[in-house]
Amino acid sequence: MTEYHIKGNNALFGELKLQGSKNASLPILAATLLTGSRSVIHNCPDLSDVRQSINILSSLGCECSFENNTAIIDSSNADGVMIDDELMTSMRSSIIYLGAILARNNRAVLSYPGGCELGPRPIDLHLSAIRRMGAEIDDTRGHIECSAGNGLTGCEIVLPIASVGATENIILAASLAKGRTIIRNAAKEPEIVDLASFLNSCGAEISGAGEVTVIIDGVKNLHGTEYSVQPDRIAAATYLCAAAATGGNIRVNDVVSSHLLPVLEYYSNAGCKMNICESSIELSAPKRLMPVGVIKTREYPGFPTDAQPLFLAMSSVSKGTSIFEENIFNSRYRYVDGLNKLGANISVHDSVAVVKGTDTLYGAKVEVTDLRGGAALIIGGLCAQGETVVCDSGHISRGYEKISENLNDLGAEITRY
Ligand code: EPZ
Repeated sequence: MTEYHIKGNNALFGELKLQGSKNASLPILAATLLTGSRSVIHNCPDLSDVRQSINILSSLGCECSFENNTAIIDSSNADGVMIDDELMTSMRSSIIYLGAILARNNRAVLSYPGGCELGPRPIDLHLSAIRRMGAEIDDTRGHIECSAGNGLTGCEIVLPIASVGATENIILAASLAKGRTIIRNAAKEPEIVDLASFLNSCGAEISGAGEVTVIIDGVKNLHGTEYSVQPDRIAAATYLCAAAATGGNIRVNDVVSSHLLPVLEYYSNAGCKMNICESSIELSAPKRLMPVGVIKTREYPGFPTDAQPLFLAMSSVSKGTSIFEENIFNSRYRYVDGLNKLGANISVHDSVAVVKGTDTLYGAKVEVTDLRGGAALIIGGLCAQGETVVCDSGHISRGYEKISENLNDLGAEITRY
């Protein structure tokens, strides 16, 4: 168990270089399987999910190295088709290997990724899309066995929900399929665009990524490439919320500011002054924040569900009431108990959380329930008087590279045990 001991009540000041995106690097790493050669991926954040992804690639026969945020993956001999249970369940997004392994080897045997701390994580959309592309799937014996005979075939797929993971899986599967695949109601998140850009730089023919319709013309082969993963927009939002909540002033560098458009107005609502350039964002917070107003999570370009806990933590020390509505995951308020233990005044009714801002939070021992909820508790601890101990069984290191070091550089006092 990792513990973050936080001496709170210090405003954050200074500059920060942002990490690469977790949710972009994971599908890009899976995509290296399709190339059958060597790819060099820069700006890969050093996170446990990234390391697990590299373990999966190694177990499938890739030669991998990962140093100084550069992953080198040679998938020349990656003829493995099976991911063992432990690797599969250690990372919730391991299901994106379904499309990648099938595209590469026409067969895949995976266990279920399972439910998770955000509630059930169904994969029905992934399976039905892969079936439509011609794969036979037997999921009746506790694991998923897929075979695609001589390969997958392109087709039109209309997603009933704009699922990020399902869109990625289809893009992976379709890149080496016969003919054209059209995804309608595709997810539009920046991470989809990064995956498509990586694959296109390997010779794929994908157009429309980031829009509602994505078209993939399957090609016979892909080649390796050198690529840099986009910056992590949710990590950027995390540091900005921490600065806002503590009444600080920070600049986040190496960001793609346009990726944060869905959240930026809420910092202004809270009374923060923003200086937004193409690749940096500076935030200067008032001593006491105003309420953010009403935040409803939606698919991109709506307000991201991953930023909901961060803004909720920040709102818990504002001067007034804010309302949150969670529309993507049905169990994404579990961390709220921890904030209330610190003295926040938050009540949850189904998908709605009502946050009555308080003057001060008070240090206490709290437990992390999930990755972004963990970041919310750290933000709470940074605002609290006295010491907060955030106990974490490994969620935070799934998504944040050097979070305590980064915050300490900005003036926080966090010791990690
Ligand atoms: C991705 O998860 C992200 N994970 C999540 O980030 C993020 O919260 C989520 O997208 C939404 O933005 C990664 O990229 C690794 P979805 P994903 O499929 O792909 C339902 C973080 O903190 N659904 O877009 O799993 C599903 O239950 C993480 O970094 C089905 O019903 O999300 C959810 O309600 C947490 N059937 C909705 O769609 C399916 O087959 C959106 O999920 C698939 C999804």
